[in-house]
Amino acid sequence: MGQNLQLSPATVAGAALESVDTPALLLDLNAFERNLDRMQSAADAAGVALRPHAKAHKTPAVALAQIARGAVGICCQKVSEALPFIAAGVQDIHISNQPALSASGAKTLLLARAAQHARMSVCVDDVRQIDALGAAAASEGSRIGVFVEIDIGQGRCGVPDAAGVLRLLERLAAHPQLKFRGLQAYHGGLQHLRAHDARRTQSQRAAERAGAVRIALENHGVRCPTVTGGGTGSVEFDLRSGVFTEVQPGSYAFMDRDYGDNAYDDRADALRFDHALFLATTVMSTAAGGHVVVDAGLKSLATDSGMPGIWQADALRYDQANDEHGIVTAKDDEDGAKSLPALGSRLHLVPGHCDPTFNLHDALIGFRGETVECFWPIAARGLSR
Ligand SMILES: Cc1ncc(COP(=O)(O)O)c(C=O)c1O
Repeated sequence: MGQNLQLSPATVAGAALESVDTPALLLDLNAFERNLDRMQSAADAAGVALRPHAKAHKTPAVALAQIARGAVGICCQKVSEALPFIAAGVQDIHISNQPALSASGAKTLLLARAAQHARMSVCVDDVRQIDALGAAAASEGSRIGVFVEIDIGQGRCGVPDAAGVLRLLERLAAHPQLKFRGLQAYHGGLQHLRAHDARRTQSQRAAERAGAVRIALENHGVRCPTVTGGGTGSVEFDLRSGVFTEVQPGSYAFMDRDYGDNAYDDRADALRFDHALFLATTVMSTAAGGHVVVDAGLKSLATDSGMPGIWQADALRYDQANDEHGIVTAKDDEDGAKSLPALGSRLHLVPGHCDPTFNLHDALIGFRGETVECFWPIAARGLSR
């Protein structure tokens, strides 16, 4: 292909934000850094370790910024997702998930190999996972940390009680290269309960369930060095629970529209986070009259948690996402007219759900004020194995 037929980068450091080619995923660095600082100080003040979830962003530069502030490491959801983070120098990674077993043993083998480069741990809730991990660690000569996942109300993965944990620990004892590191207790279902009180009550209930399992294990002489869990919607309660020794929030660094819709404690010293992630889009058609069309649809934005918000444009609404089109309408203004944006104007959308939105992009463009500052590869994009 000729030199003149190459896609140029969406932007370069130092360029005006307004000039970034759209659709483009933007990070407001001031808001992002504020979010990281707030979360780290809250964890430090509570004496709880922070291990942010990297599935939210899949971007090594984000993880390094969190670790530089005091995070003990990161979580990944899949073994393959961890690889770009290890390559970037992250030394402590927890796979907050069970390895899917297969005839080839591909995932347990990859994990055992990753454990030669970084301190790795993983969740289990079945003896067959333990046997597969033990065999892989023995064949690769590595050591893997193991967390038994307990179900604290979500009804997804995890054993229901201390008896279930004890059964798995008996099997673990047969594998000297696996080391019990504690319990994972995560309840995703409560993270987006809108009312602050409902989230508090449910989070406390979930933490109590985890605490009860930990105490029952202690009564059997089993110490749990770590109890890990929690997300952006529950973290303020998890930090005060006295049960979690480590928390795993991910979205707090970005705050998508869905998390923005939760009600939060409005006291001045409450733990709050700001929107830092935006999708820049351009109005590409105004021909219809009653609506305009922007150049960001399903292939740039995840809509599983609803449509994106439109930043600082309360009278506009993103109504519908097609593959590469987004339909934007306007509320009537005082004279009954609609103030729709002009052809070529730019909007900043607040994605409905940050995790799958990151997974649609190659790069995250960091800006401060009106200037582009950095261009970070979303290196784990698409790594779902
Ligand atoms: C195991 C686990 N830990 C932590 C999180 C935290 O996520 P977030 O703070 O982005 O909601 C999730 C999200 O789904 C998760 O599955």
